[in-house]
Amino acid sequence: MDYLEIVGGKKLSGSVTISGAKNAALPIIAATILSDKEVTLSNLPNVVDIRTLLKLLTMLGGEVDHTETVAHIDNGSIHSTKAVYEIVSQMRASILVLGPLLARFGECEVSLPGGCAIGQRPIDLHLKALESMGAHIEIKGGYVRAEAPNGLTGAKIIFDKITVGGTENIVMAAALAKGTTTITNAAKEPEVVQLCEMIADAGVKIEGIGTNELSIEGTGGKPLNFKRVEIIPDRIEAGTYLCAGAITNSSITLNKVDPEHIKASIDKLESMGCSFDISDDSITIHPVADLKPVNLITIEYPGFPTDMQAQFMALAVIAQGESLIEERLFENRFMHVSELNRLGADIWLKGSTAAVKGVENLYGADVMATDLRASSALVLAALAAEGTTNVRRIYHLDRGYDDLEGKLSALGADIVRKKESH
Ligand code: EPZ
Repeated sequence: MDYLEIVGGKKLSGSVTISGAKNAALPIIAATILSDKEVTLSNLPNVVDIRTLLKLLTMLGGEVDHTETVAHIDNGSIHSTKAVYEIVSQMRASILVLGPLLARFGECEVSLPGGCAIGQRPIDLHLKALESMGAHIEIKGGYVRAEAPNGLTGAKIIFDKITVGGTENIVMAAALAKGTTTITNAAKEPEVVQLCEMIADAGVKIEGIGTNELSIEGTGGKPLNFKRVEIIPDRIEAGTYLCAGAITNSSITLNKVDPEHIKASIDKLESMGCSFDISDDSITIHPVADLKPVNLITIEYPGFPTDMQAQFMALAVIAQGESLIEERLFENRFMHVSELNRLGADIWLKGSTAAVKGVENLYGADVMATDLRASSALVLAALAAEGTTNVRRIYHLDRGYDDLEGKLSALGADIVRKKESH
């Protein structure tokens, strides 16, 4: 197993190019199932989750030609509609094939993803919505078995909660359904917007893109013909590098980024004393010697993203004063707290809120990554800590950060990937 050895205290400088967004690429890869022709995707991030989902497509019979950032996918040859446990258990986002498989083939079996480190993460809202579109769903032997032999029909869906994956699954299912589907309380994250635009570009009429109210006119079963898609920049990767600049009191420039998508993080960083130069597709963060504390609550886009909560906690740990961080989306997304405390942080948890008292110094230690964003928070804290930190179990990082140690090294960080000796 690999780990990262990081010697803290180095100033960063220079520029970093932000990769394509993992969470935009995953639903877009799943959406290619809606087509029986070749689709080309570019600006894919070079991360494990993308390779896992592409592998699932090949297991279903799709043809995939994948280099680091480009994939040519031809799902004309799909001969199986079963997404097996071995893949789905590696990555929850595999559940995104449920809607498109059911819509195109009238049946599918997808392994239940199970719980995950950050919370229970049920899929009840996905299933309920598909049932209202006429699907018959049964859960047996750890699999969701879904059938709609005569195709799905448009329906009025009202999500009880805003769900990114649920919205994506239903938008994909609705694209091939008969008639119009409306989704109330839809997610409007940039990743959902790009998926809707891809489907709309293939000729499906979608109203309300970028709002909480979507209306999708399905093709009645006719597969789609997609244009080439270039994946949008990863707003969470971008936010993480801004935090790297802030925590090391450095000036770094992010290229190939959409500043509008990371406004919530920029606003919070400004409230902590950071300043920026911002253009259409680049952001420079300037050094800030003393970070002010921050209060934040995670909510849906355009609010402050749960996927940036852990990284901001790393900043709060060395801010001058007390910060309050409330996690509203996932019930167990605080596993980085005990690891940050191992580095010398002073964080107290009460329910869904963390009270963080800023400390003068962090000190290097052995810490363990528990989920993707928690891992990046540990890396950030290590960049600011005195001495050496070993971040273990970094397979979490490899799932979603494209060449994190390469990009940080190029900015001047002292970070090396090593192999555990046992
Ligand atoms: C997506 O997960 C992202 N993953 C997550 O990114 C992100 O944290 C999350 O959205 C919130 O922004 C991908 O895009 C692949 P949800 P998703 O459905 O779709 C509850 C990362 O680090 N819920 O919007 O699974 C759920 O438990 C990750 O890159 C139900 O109750 O999130 C949660 O509390 C991790 N029933 C809330 O809704 C359901 O059927 C929001 O979850 C579905 C969701």
